[in-house]
This record gives sequence, C-alpha cells and structure tokens, in this order.
Amino acid sequence: METIYETKFAQRREALKDFFGGEDREEIPDELLDRLFAYEELMVKYRAAIREVTTKLEILNDELASSSPRNPIERIQSRIKRPYSIAQKLTKQNHPITVESISAHLNDVAGIRVICPFINDIYDVADMLLKQDDVYLVDRKDYIRTPKENGYRSLHLIIEIPVFFSTGKENIRVEIQIRTVAMDFWASLEHEIRYKNDSPEVQQIAAELKSCADTIAQTDDQMQRLKLWIDAKT
Ligand code: GTP
Ligand code: MG
Repeated sequence: METIYETKFAQRREALKDFFGGEDREEIPDELLDRLFAYEELMVKYRAAIREVTTKLEILNDELASSSPRNPIERIQSRIKRPYSIAQKLTKQNHPITVESISAHLNDVAGIRVICPFINDIYDVADMLLKQDDVYLVDRKDYIRTPKENGYRSLHLIIEIPVFFSTGKENIRVEIQIRTVAMDFWASLEHEIRYKNDSPEVQQIAAELKSCADTIAQTDDQMQRLKLWIDAKT
C-alpha cells in the first residue's frame, strides 16, 4: 500500500509535469522529479541548520548585551548555496552531481556570516559557540592570524549541529565566516573583481586591494587597542 508520502509525491509529480512539460508532460521522467524532491528536502535541512545556528548566535548576543552596553555581533547574514554553484563546485572537485554527493562533499551549502565590531569579538563569539556541547567543530581556518595572500581576513569555522526532523536526528554542516565590519567591507569589494580577471588592470587593482586590506587591518588593531584602553578607564 502507498504511504501518504508516496501519494503526495505522485501528486506533486503530476503537477510539476503539467507546469514544466505542458503538452510534452509525458516526456518528463519520474526519476528527474524524484531527484528534484530529494534536492528540495536536503535544502530544507540546510535551512533548518541555519536557523538553529542563527538562534544560538542571537541568544549569545542578547545575553551579552544585557550585561554590557554593547553587542559583540553587529549583524548576521545567511545564505543557501544556489544549485548552479553547487553543481559547479562538485564538478570542479570531480564528484558526481547527485543529491547524496552534496552532503558528502560540500561544507558550505549552509553559510552564515557574522559581522562583529572588534577583532576580539570574533574570537569571543567563536569560543562561545564552540563551547556549546551540541556544536561539533569540523574545521577552523584563521585567516586573521594568517591572512590570505590577497589580504583576505576572516575566521572560518565548519561546524556540524544536530537538527531534529520527523525521521530522527541529523548532523548538518554549516560554514561560518566571522569578520569585522571593516574586513567585510573589504571582502565585498574584493569579491566583485574576483570574476573580472580579464581586465588588463587586474594586477594593479589586486595590489591596491592588498594595500587597503593592510590599512584596514591596522585600523582594526588600533580600534581594538583603543577599546581596551577605554574599557580600562571606565
Ligand atoms: P572555497 O572552495 O572557495 O569554499 O574555498 P575553501 O574550501 O578552501 O574554503 P575557504 O575557507 O578558503 O573559503 C571559503 C569561503 O570564504 C569562500 O567561499 C568565500 O566566501 C570566502 N573567501 C575565501 N577567500 C576569500 C577571498 O580571498 N576573498 C573573498 N572575498 N572571500 C573569500
Ligand atoms: Mg565557499
């Protein structure tokens, strides 16, 4: 006997065949639609994981804001990697483009970016999150202590957190990038020229950007020292 879920899938398949197939609806294979449903289901899981981690970060921020006059987190952004980028990355890594392959090989389908006022906030936020006993650290890259050659700075964490679904508990991977407002400002401009490397002036632009990154890093350090100085006086 068909379960209620199988009946639902069958109904969804028919509706999608009408939508995408029109008069050629019978040419759309069931298998393709089933892959689409599996993909959608997986994305629901990544979205759930983003909500879990975002809530953890918001709770920490609220708690600390109640005991001090400021927040260690300026803002939190998140995104789910788009199908095209997922396929592109799997191809680049020579992995098959299947739904199973996504959770097996990609760490950054669910991405969260945490923007902090000061450098110390970055490490405080990371420590507070990683101390929680349901947060498992998979990988940590400190591009602040060791910046990338182009000047990129951020703290990257790959974590796994358990999310409870009707079918049971699943550990889901989330990439977290933690950076200062200034580092974020730099990264967004750098990201813009990343895909325009056909310009003859690209070398010059890269050198200018590197110089901005160094200036920004100096300013972040100076602001942090000032902050510590002010705190010590009050
Ligand atoms: P990806 O394959 O790009 O994910 O790199 P990776 O697996 O070696 O991980 P890494 O931690 O180096 O980078 C992960 C993510 O950080 C990237 O997808 C970008 O969002 C961001 N990132 C890393 N390097 C740079 C950079 O030089 N400039 C900018 N703007 N972002 C960067
Ligand atoms: Mg990435």
